[in-house]
Amino acid sequence: MRAEIRLLAALLALLCLTGCAVRQTTEPQEGELLVVGFSQLGSESSWRLANTASMTAALSREKGYELLLENAKQKQDNQLAAVRNFILQGVDLIVIAPVAETGWESVLQEAKEAQIPVIIMDREVAVEDENLYLSSIGSDFLREGERAVEWLSGELERRGRGEDEIRILHLQGTYGATSQLMRTKPIEDVVREKSNWSFAAQFPADYTEAKGYEVVRDYLRVDPDIDVIYSENDNMTFGAMRALDEAGLSYGADGDVILISFDAVRKALQYCLEGRINLCVECNPLHGPRVEELIRQYEEGQSIPKHIYVEELIFTRDDLTQELIDSREY
Ligand code: AHR
Repeated sequence: MRAEIRLLAALLALLCLTGCAVRQTTEPQEGELLVVGFSQLGSESSWRLANTASMTAALSREKGYELLLENAKQKQDNQLAAVRNFILQGVDLIVIAPVAETGWESVLQEAKEAQIPVIIMDREVAVEDENLYLSSIGSDFLREGERAVEWLSGELERRGRGEDEIRILHLQGTYGATSQLMRTKPIEDVVREKSNWSFAAQFPADYTEAKGYEVVRDYLRVDPDIDVIYSENDNMTFGAMRALDEAGLSYGADGDVILISFDAVRKALQYCLEGRINLCVECNPLHGPRVEELIRQYEEGQSIPKHIYVEELIFTRDDLTQELIDSREY
């Protein structure tokens, strides 16, 4: 029996040794790394920073990738130049987080002619020929907007304000971005349908806190009579909250102005738990591992879905606990 155990131990040791040796020889060498050019649209929001971090962690050297990351600073021209540069460098694959939907046809055609596959991440591109890219992965922004609007109708009913005049201040993301277009559509549709809902104003605020603050501050100076702020991302909401504080207006679960915010980053959820934001609509930025999985499937010759949408939730104060917020990745 003891001899058998010794034999087993020797075999295990041998297996381990071969395993270790195999791991050493398969560790990617310089030329073996898959080179991925990533055109990130900017660094305008907390969501975007979490998205970039997720991509760099997932496409790391340890995992066999060389990631060339270009930040376009919210300018499509910068993105087009970055993608053309990736093509010139002959990267293996390109990932684009497009700032706006239109204007991609030519550069995608160039990538296709160079036989470089392209994955579209986060927002989408509006091109006639969907074969110009491999796959797109992101959020169902239309569903996000619809859920926000459904919740708002229910909340106004609950407050006994279903028939009241409701004036909405609408903060929009970067014009032409899928997340802006699709979050804007449901609220515009319902304002058209409901005779008692109207826009006090609609402002583009580029998904940044500074702009969100500026436009709300300036608006409230002339017209503080608003019932709802529908803000297409958390950073603009944070700016709006500062402006509301300065104007002495109450908001949130126990206040006058109803705040709806998109993204649900940790800080927004914390405010929501504290009753300062009424509704957080989740937009998940952790696409790195999903993109990596897609790349692996592609490399293995598997068939790839054309569009992938991630599961998302909405949160009010009642849905949140401190533990949930603390355990959140972004
Ligand atoms: O496209 C996703 C949006 O872009 C996020 O809601 C926003 O925060 C980001 O800048």
